[in-house]
Amino acid sequence: MSTQTFIITSNPEFSQAALTELRQIDKRLTPIEHLAPGITLCDASDFSSLAHQAATTHPTFVRHLAPVQTIVHITNKEQDVGRIALSAAALPTFAQLERGIQFAVQSRFVSTDGNQVERAYSSGQLNRLLAEAFATETDAVEAVKKPRVIVSLLCTAHTCYLGISSAEENLSSWPGGARRFANTPEQISRAEFKLLEALEVFDLFLPCKGIALDLGAAPGGWTRLFLEAGMDVVAVDPARLDARLEGNKHLEHYRGYAESYLEKAVRRYKQFDVIANDMRMDARDAAHLLVLASHCLHNNGVVISTLKLPHATREINPLTTLRDAIAILNTGYGIVKARQLFHNRQEVTVVAARCKK
Ligand SMILES: C[S@@+](CC[C@H](N)C(=O)[O-])C[C@H]1O[C@@H](n2cnc3c(N)ncnc32)[C@H](O)[C@@H]1O
Repeated sequence: MSTQTFIITSNPEFSQAALTELRQIDKRLTPIEHLAPGITLCDASDFSSLAHQAATTHPTFVRHLAPVQTIVHITNKEQDVGRIALSAAALPTFAQLERGIQFAVQSRFVSTDGNQVERAYSSGQLNRLLAEAFATETDAVEAVKKPRVIVSLLCTAHTCYLGISSAEENLSSWPGGARRFANTPEQISRAEFKLLEALEVFDLFLPCKGIALDLGAAPGGWTRLFLEAGMDVVAVDPARLDARLEGNKHLEHYRGYAESYLEKAVRRYKQFDVIANDMRMDARDAAHLLVLASHCLHNNGVVISTLKLPHATREINPLTTLRDAIAILNTGYGIVKARQLFHNRQEVTVVAARCKK
């Protein structure tokens, strides 16, 4: 039986966990080479079937998959562009670039030994030149934000791994699953990106009215986004909120610990449409608090929470902590989904709801 090569991308600290998740789908999955931190070249029996199953089951730690259908030797000079274009056009999968279909070229440059490679082109230039050539050749339409077909390139010092697939097979429409957001003047914290990415990945919209409970709110990035959506917010944190939030009549700041706030909120039958948690706290402790908080969640409300994981040591397995935390959440919620997002560091993001939809 032949094998198919592809690239898995995950947070470097969880690349083994990502491989294990995919091996549950395809037992024949074999790592071939670590191309860069968190980026592993692998073989599997059938990339397309593996990717479709992964897209359905949503593994927690696998951020991105990309098929490798050909390998191009590169010299990092301008001539590479033509060589890569011809190799892509010769692939049977090039036929996916049909007239009118939205596509993107996504190239990533990585270093296998930590040394930067001098190239005659940037990844942006390579994407643009190839996209122009492919659009002219096929009448497909370049759409960087919502591509349906993606030409993926991963270039090391002398090798370009190239493949064409649907965005669904890639598990993300961003290169390597790296969803980047622009900084804005009104932004309060980088944590805002975690919430924005979670909304996109879990396909959620913030309601334009209702009440959000934000546990571990300071300095107030998530709170700002809830307010911006049109919600009232109870922000719980012993620390100060950003001065720009002061005096907002839609915001109540409970300047104390979540444990004491929740005890009172449950007693007073408070109800929220969204319960958010980004507290710096052991994932299992956070999960216990979120189960308590479930009494304060409207039936059709949603919980969006980060769960902080310990670094792996000989004694500590962060995956055990995560498994325990999710088991705790399952005692209070009918549905719990977990993903490690690009903006998550030593943590994952979970979304939970009371009832199965
Ligand atoms: C990563 S920050 C939250 C960032 C916030 N989501 C934002 O968007 O700006 C973590 C916060 O959790 C708070 N925290 C830790 N333990 C807490 C507890 N038991 N109750 C309430 N807040 C807590 C800390 O004070 C800290 O402000």
